Amino acid sequence: MNIINNSGPCILAIETSCDDTSIAILKEGKMLANITANQAIHEKYGGVVPELASRDHEKNIVKVYYESLRTAGIQRDEIDYVAFTQGPGLLGSLLVGTSFAKSLSLGLNKPLIAVNHLEAHVASLYIDIPQPKFPFLTLLVSGGHTELVLVEDFFKFITLGGTLDDAAGEAFDKIGKMLNLGYPAGPLIDQLAENGISDKFQFTYSKVPKYKYSFSGLKTQVLYFLQKKIQEDPGFIKKNLEDLCASIQHHIVSYLLKTVELAAKDHELSNFGLVGGVSANTSLRKAMNLLAQRFGGECYIPKLEYCTDNAAMIAKVAEFKAKQNKFDDLSVKAKARF
Ligand code: KG4
Ligand code: ZN
Repeated sequence: MNIINNSGPCILAIETSCDDTSIAILKEGKMLANITANQAIHEKYGGVVPELASRDHEKNIVKVYYESLRTAGIQRDEIDYVAFTQGPGLLGSLLVGTSFAKSLSLGLNKPLIAVNHLEAHVASLYIDIPQPKFPFLTLLVSGGHTELVLVEDFFKFITLGGTLDDAAGEAFDKIGKMLNLGYPAGPLIDQLAENGISDKFQFTYSKVPKYKYSFSGLKTQVLYFLQKKIQEDPGFIKKNLEDLCASIQHHIVSYLLKTVELAAKDHELSNFGLVGGVSANTSLRKAMNLLAQRFGGECYIPKLEYCTDNAAMIAKVAEFKAKQNKFDDLSVKAKARF
């Protein structure tokens, strides 16, 4: 099946599951717009504050809507379907997108399509890569999720495993906070790690059931380690920042890869996917590409714009659901958890 086509509907898709307000327009198989407003307000708190996130979505969504129409060069009466992220995510944030989508659907008299945010992250692979080789094993790593997904066909997934507690991006961000880095710390750790020694400091891996991850143990280990070192030398973090970043990044990437490799061997898979905000990590991208090479397969990674939260991936799922005549009515509800 080829889900890319040159005919087909015009879909306006809305994503507001966390702290990015994003609207995309997909028309006749072409992504005409993918406009995202980020929320800088959370930086000073070192993490996303749900209440502030919903307020900012409300402030941004109308502007993002008009900007998406302008960028796509379409009029609102050209929209055939209105899609939105139903969940999982922060309920207050989801409610802003859901209510906006319902109002638009009602005002334009066009069908509504509710989309699962995690399915959409996998679908981000299909925006630029029309024909991936199935089956493949996808690592979905973001600030809110860490999942290992076996993708058998475009929208046929089996979740093999995932995190028992914190997400991989959360680990980067929380450990970055201990290192006095800004938020989100993931990209900063990535940059600083470039000139650091990755085996200077070693941490132990949490024992977990097969295909599961746990990042809360690493967080505690790093906290105790830093507390001890700072007692001996208050300037420890500053003097060792690059090596600390390289060692922590190396630990997280190796930990992620170990399970991906095990699952690939168990399921005889040689093709891989990498999606979610953490897939921007240089070391993780390199490691996944090398793994695919060793297994004689390919590694699919979307371009950065589609790795972090975005509405283009929501539109891609909606395109598929529209083809199957899977629509929702106005009673559909936002869901924080699935
Ligand atoms: O997918 P995303 O934009 O939003 C969520 O759904 O969470 O992912 C954001 C996460 C943050 O935790 C951020 O620190 C992490 O992705 N991240 C990175 C990098 N770029 C973003 N982590 C490690 N290295 C990076 N280069
Ligand atoms: Zn996400």
